[in-house]
Amino acid sequence: MSDAAQFAEAHFSEYLEKLKNLVRIPSISFDGFPPEEVKRSAEATAKLLREEGLENVEILSIEGSHPYVYADWLHAPGKPTLLLYAHHDVQPVGREEVWKTPPFEPTEKEGRLYARGSADDKAGIIVHVAAIAAYLRAQKKLPLNVKLMIEGEEEIGSLHLEPFLKQYQKKFQADVIVITDTGNFDVGVPTITNSLRGIVATEVTVKVMDHPLHSGSWGGPGPDPVIALSKIIASLVDDEGKIAIPGIYDEVLPLSPVEQKSIESLSYTDAIYRQQAFLLDGVEIIGGEAPPLKKLYRLPSLSVNAIQASSRKNMANIVNDSAWCKIGIRTVPNMNADRSLKLLCDHLKRTAPWGAHVILEPEHTAPWWTTNPEGPVFDKARKALTEAFGRECVVMGQGGTIPFVGPFSEALGGVPALLIGVEDPYTNAHSENESLHLGDLKKAILAAVYLYRELAD
Ligand code: BES
Ligand code: MN
Repeated sequence: MSDAAQFAEAHFSEYLEKLKNLVRIPSISFDGFPPEEVKRSAEATAKLLREEGLENVEILSIEGSHPYVYADWLHAPGKPTLLLYAHHDVQPVGREEVWKTPPFEPTEKEGRLYARGSADDKAGIIVHVAAIAAYLRAQKKLPLNVKLMIEGEEEIGSLHLEPFLKQYQKKFQADVIVITDTGNFDVGVPTITNSLRGIVATEVTVKVMDHPLHSGSWGGPGPDPVIALSKIIASLVDDEGKIAIPGIYDEVLPLSPVEQKSIESLSYTDAIYRQQAFLLDGVEIIGGEAPPLKKLYRLPSLSVNAIQASSRKNMANIVNDSAWCKIGIRTVPNMNADRSLKLLCDHLKRTAPWGAHVILEPEHTAPWWTTNPEGPVFDKARKALTEAFGRECVVMGQGGTIPFVGPFSEALGGVPALLIGVEDPYTNAHSENESLHLGDLKKAILAAVYLYRELAD
């Protein structure tokens, strides 16, 4: 074992403490949450990078964006340069009362660290930092050059990616991108992600009246907006649970024979999905005959992320004036985002019953991404991951979205993007009681140490 690898092993608990410090900052990037916390999280990240020996540490931003953190170490002339990415912002906590431990007080339990952002994606920051520190502290130098980019608004769709890229593209020039923000096939199974889904979404308001009315005095002749919205939503899927928006599947790229084989080789069954997703007894698997992994990353899915009309607290015998929801479609190769969003929006307008007014507020779209996981960079990554985890590495797609990946690797001239992460099927990212498997964090750090060694050649 090299000095760096030994250092990473021996000092793991210190980096776990540094992770806990990051996690204590409620850096929720969503509208309506204090942006100062995201700023504080950027500053804490910058301080950490500085303390661990990174140079040119800088907080970058673009008009209106949450802060990005940049740092580098560029003293390996002639060696490749890696662009290391993670994000320091997090999702809102959801229902406080459902959390078994306080969301921003990191708590260790049965080998996992519970807290919002523990896995998604503050652990991703620590993987880079701990691996770099292992070299700089144990060997005084890295075997290659690194540039770090830690984003502050990934969870809201990387809204300023385009202007950010325009302004800083040169600064980020690199030979390989390494992104630590994805999941592993299972606990202890190292995974390289070769495709991500994209997303298109819109808020929908259905309005029929100026203000709510007494449901006894006025209910009957006028339509109910909640029922109107329900009918619209119901029309989005067929009885099998497939998306019923005409044309939505037209551009979906079929799996190649190699991809088909790769999915089969993972032997992921409906029963495994049922168990990992904690589906209740008797609840059916929907979406037709396709294998579950294909449904998770090579077929679109539609979700109603939130819905509202009056509230449980204000419940009264009224006819509501309006009903609201947010609907998202996860897109897959080769679905065009603008076209898919338009099909969704047109469908929502077209299916509104009773002349109900439909007001749409479409969100910024994020593209899907896919790569051919072949060539020396992927071979070296496989080797590093297999060595660190002590078992064969898996290559697969994932259903989540990282808006940064496609545009950035394109802007850097199509350089390979390596997606490795520490989420696992039990992480509960975006939900309550998010957690990180500590054994996998340690292995992921070791894998990064080996990866730098491999890529230095
Ligand atoms: N880490 C996730 C993305 C992810 C999760 C990739 C699981 C692979 C496996 C990321 O932080 C995320 O949640 N992204 C958002 C992006 C959206 C706001 C555009 C998502 O997927 O909802
Ligand atoms: Mn993430």
